[in-house]
Amino acid sequence: MAKANGLPGLYIVLDGIVGTGKSEQGRQLKSHLSLDFPQGDFLFTYEPGGNPEADLLRQKVKFEKMSPVEEMRIFAKSRSITIPKVVIPALSEGQIVISDRSVTTSLAYQAFGRELGIHRVWEENKKAICGVLPDVVVWMNVGLEACLKRSAGQNPDKFDAEDRIFWTRTINGYSQMLHFLKSINSDIKTIQIDDLNGSMNIEQMRLAIKERLYPYIEYNLGPEGRIVRDRQV
Ligand code: TYD
Repeated sequence: MAKANGLPGLYIVLDGIVGTGKSEQGRQLKSHLSLDFPQGDFLFTYEPGGNPEADLLRQKVKFEKMSPVEEMRIFAKSRSITIPKVVIPALSEGQIVISDRSVTTSLAYQAFGRELGIHRVWEENKKAICGVLPDVVVWMNVGLEACLKRSAGQNPDKFDAEDRIFWTRTINGYSQMLHFLKSINSDIKTIQIDDLNGSMNIEQMRLAIKERLYPYIEYNLGPEGRIVRDRQV
C-alpha cells in the first residue's frame, strides 16, 4: 500500500462536523482495536490540543472570540506543537495513530465555514504539519439536522452557536477538502460514511467504519504485526 507519508506507522484521522458522533466512534475504536489487533500499537490523540502546551491553545480557540484569521493561526499553532511532539514520534516507531481531527478540519471549517479559502488555509498549515499528512481520513458525513439535534446542550463552545449557513458551508467544505487532499497527495485514502438522515446507531456506524478501515490496518501491520511498507492494497 503506497502511504501518504514516508513514516512506518499509519496516521488515521476521524473527522466531521459537531454532532456526527465522531468522538464516540473514537472511543469505540479505542476499545475494539487492541482486541482486534493484539499485535498493533495504537496511539489516540486529538486536535486542537494533544499535549499540555497545545491544550492551552485548545481552551483559547474554543471559547475566546477572535477573527477567522487568528483562529486559523491558533489551530495551525496547536498542530505545529503536537505533530512533531506526538504524531511523528509515534509514526516513526510504527505505531498506528488515531487522531480526532487534524489539518483536515481546518481545510473544512476555516477554509469553507469561515470562508478563508482552501489555498490560504493550506499555506498557513503546510509548515505546521511538518510534511505529515494523514494516511487515511474517515469523514463521517451525517445529515445536518441530525447533527444539530445531537449536539444540542453538550458542553457548548463557540462553534456550537454557529448557524445553519455556517454548517452547510462546512459540510460542503468536507467534500472539497477530500478532493483537495487527493490532488496534493494521491496516496491519501479517504473513507466517506454517508448517513444523511442520521438513522445509523453507534453500532451500525462502528461496523461501517470497521469494514472500510480495518483493511488498511491489516496491511500496515502485516501477518505478524510487522510493518509491511511495500504491499499493494
Ligand atoms: P472539540 O470539542 O474537539 O469538537 P467536537 O466535539 O466537535 O469534535 O472542539 C474542537 C472545535 O474546534 C470543533 O468545533 C471544531 C473546531 N476546529 C476547527 O474549527 N478547526 C480545526 O482545525 C480543528 C482541529 C477544530
